Amino acid sequence: MADNLPSEATGDWWRSAAIYEVYVRSFADGDGDGTGDLAGVRSRLPYLAELGVDALWFTPWYLSPLADGGYDVADYRVIDPAFGTLGEAEKLIAEARELGIRTIVDIVPNHVSDQHAWFRAALAAGPGSPERELFHFRPGRGENGELAPNDWPSQFAGSTWTRVEDGEWYLHLFAPEQPDLNWAHPVVRREHEDVLRFWFERGVAGVRIDSAALLTKADGLPDFVEGRDPHPYIDQDEIHDVYRSWRAVADEYGGAFVGEVWLPDSERFARYLRPDELHTAFNFNFLSCPWDATRLRQAVEETLAEHAPVGAPATWVLCNHDVTRTVTRYGREDTGFDFAAKTFGTPTDLELGTRRARAAALLSLALPGSVYLYQGEELGLPEVEIPLDRIQDPMHFRSGGRDPGRDGCRVPLPWTAEVPAAEPWLPQPEDWAAYAADIQEVDPSSMLSLYRTALDLRRHEAGFTGSALSWLPVASGVLAFARSEGLICVVNLAAEPAELPAHSLTLLTSGPLDVDGRLPQDTAAWLRA
Ligand code: GLC
Repeated sequence: MADNLPSEATGDWWRSAAIYEVYVRSFADGDGDGTGDLAGVRSRLPYLAELGVDALWFTPWYLSPLADGGYDVADYRVIDPAFGTLGEAEKLIAEARELGIRTIVDIVPNHVSDQHAWFRAALAAGPGSPERELFHFRPGRGENGELAPNDWPSQFAGSTWTRVEDGEWYLHLFAPEQPDLNWAHPVVRREHEDVLRFWFERGVAGVRIDSAALLTKADGLPDFVEGRDPHPYIDQDEIHDVYRSWRAVADEYGGAFVGEVWLPDSERFARYLRPDELHTAFNFNFLSCPWDATRLRQAVEETLAEHAPVGAPATWVLCNHDVTRTVTRYGREDTGFDFAAKTFGTPTDLELGTRRARAAALLSLALPGSVYLYQGEELGLPEVEIPLDRIQDPMHFRSGGRDPGRDGCRVPLPWTAEVPAAEPWLPQPEDWAAYAADIQEVDPSSMLSLYRTALDLRRHEAGFTGSALSWLPVASGVLAFARSEGLICVVNLAAEPAELPAHSLTLLTSGPLDVDGRLPQDTAAWLRA
């Protein structure tokens, strides 16, 4: 088994792993009810091993009323019956590990479901009770307490406060079905450390931390004052104390963390990655970056510069279950990603987007650090415009219907070209047969073949080791860098074809070279120096 785990020797697998995000509900449907499940994942482990990923990150698979796709957890120690059982999860973790694939679970510490036992008890116990202290319950403002306790806007639009029958209000940074926990309370802290242990003891190698910068709130929950830094519910200093104790738990098991930390300030971002805190955090600056050589180079340089002082590896992410799929985004006029810019019917050129996504795949897989792939990215799936009557994402409803929400990137994967026996929980477009895994598997020019070859090279070529990177002199609009052990990656974003830098061997290209052996626009190449 050790042969399948190249970084086993150092224990630092998370420094360079290729990690595949599994959105369980939409990955593979084992029991034919239109919803993905653990049986489905287990049946597709050979596919994932063949793809060549080192770890799987499972979005929340716990008991949940699914008010926010499982990010509303009713019980952290129970698998949602729609997905399977705890016994199956244990089998899945062990079977994956047999294939050299580690498991990362998703912990959502900022909030629980309104169906969680704690919140139900808090509602029943009434104002002033110790049960309510686990959450942020407050009387309202205004003469009769009819106004929300403060002015914080929700991450999902609207207010962050909901009033309950006895007149008190409770805080929820996301949907009302996701009440925020009070992280100043020792019981909340203790419970989460127990939950971490529970999953580490079941063999997981890592934990993704949802909304990792939001847990602790400013004392007294003051109004938000524009321009005040930091925001009263984002990135409060006390949060680092939480992660220092979590790190101690992870160290007992050799586990690793990846934090969902959206922070524009790179110095504050890096604080989460100090040696006694989180091992890694998602690189959202890279994910949001437009398809532009100067901007991309700057994003890479800034990323490496912000990680270096704390000794943490960078992560490279092009998409996930919250954002527009890569081929669609890169085929738009505005190729960057911004939540606020999500609108219905934005035109996209999928052929162009796909060409760029292929080049971007080689770019992100060549950079030093760990890399994340979101299920379906390896199939080149586009974002789907979901019919209005099928949308499920609360982000859509809370925006008053303006925002299409995130369902468009969560459509169940097309495994075969045949129409699935059961209607998937989100509709698959008719032309998705062309993206089916069984078709791409036998097509050497498919996106799936590109990812398989690239991941195999990334794992076996010596050039991909080491953490240093140096830029090579090239024409404007072209990105070229060399890794310390001799791998060269070139990406041409300019209209003019680019000459390849001196090399001994062409390992892989994202598309054909031109007749003169030059790299056409929106194409990338991996070369051995
Ligand atoms: C994170 C998740 C997202 C979820 C939110 C609330 O951003 O990635 O899907 O809606 O947290 O838990």
